[in-house]
Amino acid sequence: MKVVFLACSYPPEMQQYTRGLAEVGAEVYGVGDQPAAALPASLKQHLTDYLQVPRLLDEADVVSKVTAWLRGREVDRVLANWEVMVETAARLREKLGLGGMSPDTVRGFRDKQLMKERVQKAGLRTPRSQRVRTVAEVRAAAEKIGYPLVLKPISGAGSADTYRVNDAKELEQTLAKMQHVSECSCEEFISGEEFTFDTVCIGGKPAYMNVAQYLPPPLVARSEEWVSPVIITVRDMEQAKLQAGITLGKNVLGALGMGDGFTHMEWFRKPDGEAVFGEIGCRPGGACLVDQMNYTGDIDLFREWARAVVHHRFEAPTARKYNAAIIFKRAKGRGRITRIDGLGEFMRAYGQHVVEERLLRPGTPRRDWKKTLLSDGHIMLRHPDWQTTYDLAFAAARHIQMYAE
Ligand SMILES: Nc1ncnc2c1ncn2[C@@H]1O[C@H](COP(=O)(O)OP(=O)(O)O)[C@@H](O)[C@H]1O
Ligand SMILES: [Mg+2]
Repeated sequence: MKVVFLACSYPPEMQQYTRGLAEVGAEVYGVGDQPAAALPASLKQHLTDYLQVPRLLDEADVVSKVTAWLRGREVDRVLANWEVMVETAARLREKLGLGGMSPDTVRGFRDKQLMKERVQKAGLRTPRSQRVRTVAEVRAAAEKIGYPLVLKPISGAGSADTYRVNDAKELEQTLAKMQHVSECSCEEFISGEEFTFDTVCIGGKPAYMNVAQYLPPPLVARSEEWVSPVIITVRDMEQAKLQAGITLGKNVLGALGMGDGFTHMEWFRKPDGEAVFGEIGCRPGGACLVDQMNYTGDIDLFREWARAVVHHRFEAPTARKYNAAIIFKRAKGRGRITRIDGLGEFMRAYGQHVVEERLLRPGTPRRDWKKTLLSDGHIMLRHPDWQTTYDLAFAAARHIQMYAE
């Protein structure tokens, strides 16, 4: 089985998927923009061949260079797990006459307005929304949708340029900040808790499912620097409060024509229990979510994803043993990390539950918390009991403090 894997080395977790593919017996033809000589040996050992392209994000160029490179070699799959490459993979599949999701299907997982239209058409609950390209269109949409509303880029990520707008005056202020965004979605603001619904699918049916809760919702976490964003995978997916969201998630997969591979959906749970669609991608969640899922069940989804897409089988146990929490920290002050307070105490008290501690060490420059949820590092911990996991996560959020200058 020959598999082309786009962006096989970056972001770093793509190296894990490459490993997974090799471990289930695939010959991996990696594509990336790094020179072959710069690839780590740990990755190279899993590659059958590698093509360096000058610009990964230049879809037409990647399609033509990969096609030329593959001439005379029959490949079976073209795959990508990085959001910005999923459409390129679909274009290549189409060009090479391979099965798998078409460019039009994948578009439904990329274009936030199109996805909502398709999901809505299937009778599922989405925020009322409209695609807007001009200031006049935004004002008209706001009139129709009402306040509060959300204004966000059609092809956004990480809550960038995403705003809650409470009234007409705020709308004008927000418009001034969004002049560089050419196409937006203007939508009804949904108040409630925010969750993920993640799957590994075979033929559009989840072979694996996960739900995680965002604490607080990502938009709040990205608006306030003092917040330590927490995400917790939910061990007990049978509980009543999640069922509407899980059912919504499965139906969304059908509505969008999901094929094989990872999906990462976000949904809201309103106080009255109604589940509302947020967005979905046909790729894994970022910011260590796959590691969190692995810690939830002591499994290796990097490899099981590979088995699912290559052999259409999923062999890992799906029993959930833990709630796994990740706590992202942001230092106070600018510049380089100077000290971490409270870490030693926390580890002495609760270290037995901690599975990863990756806080940036003193001397390291701070990361841009607006650009990466990873912020200045994270702690991951797990416990079989939800409330205990929650309490431990918020103890870490409150009592561990990082400083920079
Ligand atoms: N209609 C909405 N109602 C309430 N909050 C929203 C809405 N749309 C987006 N948000 C908030 O903004 C965040 C980012 O929006 P999202 O559509 O997930 O884009 P992305 O994650 O790609 O930046 C969401 O996680 C949520 O917290
Ligand atoms: Mg999102």
